[in-house]
Amino acid sequence: MDVQKEDAVNAVAAPEFPAVTLDAARISQLAALVDELTPAELYRVAAWCAARAEQIPVGSTQAKAVGAAEPAPQLTIVYGSQTGNAKRLAEQLAGRSTDSGLPVRLLRADAYPQRELARESHLVVVISTQGEGEPPDDARGLVEFITGKRAPKLPALQFAVLGLGDSSYPLFCAIGRQLDARLAELGGQRFVPLGEADVDFETVTTPWLDTTLARASEVLKTASPALRPAPLHAVSTRTLPSREQPFAATVLGNQRIVARDSERDVRHLELSLEGSGLHYRPGDALGVWPRNPPTLVTQWLEVLKLDAASEVSHQGRTLALSQWLGAERELTRLNRPLVKALAEAGGHTDLLALLRPENSAALATLLTDNQPIDLLRRYPTNWDAEALLAALRPLTPRLYSIASSPKLVGDEVHLTVAVVDYQAHGSAHWGAASSFLADADEDARIPVFIESNERFRLPADPARDIIMIGPGTGVAPFRAFMQEREETAASGRNWLFFGNRHFARDFLYQTEWQDALKRGALDRLDLAFSRDESHKTYVQDRLREHGAEVYAWLKGGAHLYVCGDSSHMAKDVHAALGALVAEHGQLSADAARAWLDELLQQGRYARDVY
Ligand SMILES: Cc1cc2nc3c(=O)[nH]c(=O)nc-3n(C[C@H](O)[C@H](O)[C@H](O)COP(=O)(O)OP(=O)(O)OC[C@H]3O[C@@H](n4cnc5c(N)ncnc54)[C@H](O)[C@@H]3O)c2cc1C
Ligand SMILES: Cc1cc2nc3c(=O)[nH]c(=O)nc-3n(C[C@H](O)[C@H](O)[C@H](O)COP(=O)(O)O)c2cc1C
Repeated sequence: MDVQKEDAVNAVAAPEFPAVTLDAARISQLAALVDELTPAELYRVAAWCAARAEQIPVGSTQAKAVGAAEPAPQLTIVYGSQTGNAKRLAEQLAGRSTDSGLPVRLLRADAYPQRELARESHLVVVISTQGEGEPPDDARGLVEFITGKRAPKLPALQFAVLGLGDSSYPLFCAIGRQLDARLAELGGQRFVPLGEADVDFETVTTPWLDTTLARASEVLKTASPALRPAPLHAVSTRTLPSREQPFAATVLGNQRIVARDSERDVRHLELSLEGSGLHYRPGDALGVWPRNPPTLVTQWLEVLKLDAASEVSHQGRTLALSQWLGAERELTRLNRPLVKALAEAGGHTDLLALLRPENSAALATLLTDNQPIDLLRRYPTNWDAEALLAALRPLTPRLYSIASSPKLVGDEVHLTVAVVDYQAHGSAHWGAASSFLADADEDARIPVFIESNERFRLPADPARDIIMIGPGTGVAPFRAFMQEREETAASGRNWLFFGNRHFARDFLYQTEWQDALKRGALDRLDLAFSRDESHKTYVQDRLREHGAEVYAWLKGGAHLYVCGDSSHMAKDVHAALGALVAEHGQLSADAARAWLDELLQQGRYARDVY
């Protein structure tokens, strides 16, 4: 940091401490920490510092305060989140708790010092379930610790767990449930019962957060009456667009990037964030609020014999039915509660039977193979508009990995979108967001927000090598990574594994990768096209073929990234990595798994899978 910046920092003095200045070394440490932060993140850090300063008595050094023998009761909020929902909710709770004057600290699960669990007084865990009942990557270590043999007894702990999940999965909210049960088993007392939030999570999380805040205020204010409200109001924040208040981004370009005869349409979209105040970093995703396909809305109205123009009041809002169905309710994703509502409304005994626990596999197949319109056609119901809205879930935003670096594209944001558009049960079917994006003409406005992903970042040290495994649209964030690495002249090597069905039709961004190879920006490119030969080849096969070199890169400190399909690819790639680490590191299968787990926990092996 230069002298001017140093003066600027020292000019911001707190009234109680006019004589305090920071020396150049401290300022440079600070600058290294905050240089990469967005304005929103900077405000968050500033608020946190101010709150922290309030909690340390004037005249004491920080070391004295931290070293106090008996820690004052405080609310610790820990989150584990893959796609940002749990993180956002935890941040909301932390923000509101701070505003209410509670002593609070907010930590991502992998930053939580496990040895402090035994001394924790009030703990809130907000955590999603991923994979098939697995923790999010950032919470693997903490979940393992709490559920493992080394977990301490917790007789003094008051805790509350908010689990996030999706009831279409067989193991709904499994991790939230597991932690809630385990913390109680270790002796903790619930100060709020377990919250289990489904895809439309606000219906559960809003009252749960209210209750938790109210209960935490009661117990913590009683325990520590001398608490003062933190002076957060001194920090003014400009409200940036968010999930709740998205920005209407203008479409600058929308181009098909697969051949005309490709089996699947994939789009490259360029949107403008100009004037939004939004910032993103490679690794982040763009949240998109879709509208349902107009043809699908018409089909629903026809099947249900309802009038598009009729005004319907629901949960305090009155809109035309076509507006409710077009922009407010999920029409494309089938879920258990909708099956139940339909079964009960029409007395459909075969559907009712599917809801019994012994038929969960058949129900899972029904949910995967059908969209709601298929069931509406097969199982007639006489729902009126109000009953229909009560049975449908609110429309939720979809996430898309950002395929650009702002260092190259400025205010633009690029996406790589596979369009969900297929034939089934004798008719056309669409995905809500991907078809909304595919149909967006230039100058159309798309409601968007940034979903940051701190777990999917380029190495802080630009000299580190990176290995990127991104078949299909999984390649999107690696386009962003490569742009960033070139713009910042990062010296580490870059190796991309890409795969898709056919070389000639589905090689996404083919010329960009080949040019990058020629320029030397990309050091290695390994390709796997599964349907060009009789023998199917996937990225995991290429990984195995080059196992010795992959292992050597990893041993040399390379960071490894996997993005794309979660149902098969990510698991197969993980298995291939385990096998190559075992073979080339001469480790047992268990030791190789532990080695990879360690990489995951260090954040050196990061996944962005969906
Ligand atoms: C962190 C993250 C990053 C992501 N990044 C990207 C990205 O970069 N690019 C990208 O394209 N997607 C990405 N996705 C996926 C994206 O968010 C959407 O899930 C995807 O585009 C589908 O959404 P949709 O609204 O079009 O379809 P929906 O309306 O959500 O789904 C339609 C329904 O159709 C069903 N269905 C879909 N295809 C078929 C089929 N062939 N046969 C039978 N049934 C089917 C589905 O089960 C679903 O019920 C990402 C997801 C996450 C979580
Ligand atoms: C790949 C994937 C796997 C998932 N597996 C489960 C699961 O097994 N059980 C469950 O209840 N929810 C599951 N979910 C749903 C998430 O828990 C849910 O979307 C949650 O809101 C995500 O919160 P987060 O953004 O904080 O990670 C899964 C979601 C994804 C994308």
